[in-house]
Amino acid sequence: MMMYKNIYNKRGIEPKNVASDFALPELFFSITDPKGIILTGNDVFQRVSKFERDELIGKPHNIIRHPDVPRAVFKAVWNTIKQGKPFVGYVKNMAKDGSYYWVLAAIYPVINEEGKIEKYISIRLKPSSKMFELIPSFYKNVLEVELKNDMDTALQFMLEKLKELGFDSYEEFAKQAFFQEIQSREKLLANKQDMSCQVDLSNVIAQNTDFIDLLCSLETIFFRLNRYFNEIFGKVNLFLNLNEELNNKSKFIYELAEDIRLLSLNASIESYKIKKEGVSFSTLSHEMRKNAELSERKILQLSKIIDNTKKDIEDIGFNILTSKLVIEMITFFIKEMINNLSEKRIKDEKQKEVINSINELFSLLVVYSNNLSKNVDASKSQLRSMFYNIQELNVLINRLDFIHINGLIESAHTKEEGGGFTIIFSQMLKLIEAAKNEIINLETSISGASEENLTVNLITEIAQQKIVRLQKEYKEVFRSYV
Ligand SMILES: Cc1cc2nc3c(=O)[nH]c(=O)nc-3n(C[C@H](O)[C@H](O)[C@H](O)COP(=O)(O)O)c2cc1C
Repeated sequence: MMMYKNIYNKRGIEPKNVASDFALPELFFSITDPKGIILTGNDVFQRVSKFERDELIGKPHNIIRHPDVPRAVFKAVWNTIKQGKPFVGYVKNMAKDGSYYWVLAAIYPVINEEGKIEKYISIRLKPSSKMFELIPSFYKNVLEVELKNDMDTALQFMLEKLKELGFDSYEEFAKQAFFQEIQSREKLLANKQDMSCQVDLSNVIAQNTDFIDLLCSLETIFFRLNRYFNEIFGKVNLFLNLNEELNNKSKFIYELAEDIRLLSLNASIESYKIKKEGVSFSTLSHEMRKNAELSERKILQLSKIIDNTKKDIEDIGFNILTSKLVIEMITFFIKEMINNLSEKRIKDEKQKEVINSINELFSLLVVYSNNLSKNVDASKSQLRSMFYNIQELNVLINRLDFIHINGLIESAHTKEEGGGFTIIFSQMLKLIEAAKNEIINLETSISGASEENLTVNLITEIAQQKIVRLQKEYKEVFRSYV
């Protein structure tokens, strides 16, 4: 209870330990100006926050701020979105009457042609994943640190705790949370969504028919489009796993190149120390160095390709999730409007606002599906060259393996002088063994990803064509309302 007296309780309303609930299929959005002033939002947002519409519009978004959320979280929000990057995170909000509701919020900056941030769009869903279970107590701990110290200490504490949970940065945590939440929601809602345009025409008043017809046709189009993104979503896990694997492997692979170089250098130093058997050893160590150099070069090349590909692969995951979320938000909103508006006369102002919101959300879909298309296209050739490089590296590693087995046999024949060699050779063999395992795994994932990438590429292209066509077809219709 002491928590509730904290300094972030700005509205002076006593927070209640009562949920302002909403259903899992419900999605809500709000659009703000660059300062976070609410311009519009959908009905679920209004219902769950328990404010009247005109109490929300024109107000700063902190109107629903809950004192349980550390400032550090909002600092992270604004740091990210002000740079034009999207933010994903859990937020506890407070409704007008003090009740609370948790959301997973994705906030997207809308950037205009001059590269300036024009608006922000936030899409929210009900958290349902295992990951979310950790969040309330996690925020409580962060808040305690923040109230005792300051926001920067809390931010630091938050990052340390995330590290303990296995996330190297807030972004990594956010991406994982985004995926877990969308996946969990998808599983729980399986087959429960009927998205077809179901409107009881006898309830639609005559003046509304044209507008409701328009919404219905839009809903049908977006619903069809959604099938493509659902299909692509089925592949998202593969890209997220590959991203994690590339992150882990690129470190390992880089270190491997260093180790190989160091050990082969040691081997050639050892070979100079040996007088009698020195001849055969120095030939061996020459071979070894030559191959080690080649392998090192290949490994560094591979590591560079991995670095270049990582960003695209990472973005594929995020862009798939975003495209899916946005298109679901659009279909949900249209459906919501059809249901809520049919029975009363829809004013021109309202029609304009609805079309404007659909247009804003649609623009977001255009941006992110376009990005997805670009990432998938770029990673196509990157994955291919990664695959070839790995195969070449395999050949080199096998040759190194052969040289070292020979070396080990040779050094076993010599007496004390061979001791240094034996150690180096067995170290090298261990290293090679480890390298082989890592490389085989990577080879398998890359070849799998390459194939799936082609499928995603194909589906994205079709979806993209449909989006362009939709944009053209409805441009005039949208314009006539704005
Ligand atoms: C698009 C958008 C959506 C936001 N949604 C929320 C929200 O749901 N809840 C919230 O408390 N803050 C939200 N914020 C952040 C608020 O603007 C604000 O930073 C936060 O409530 C902290 O307020 P304070 O600095 O007055 O403590 C949002 C900001 C933007 C730009």
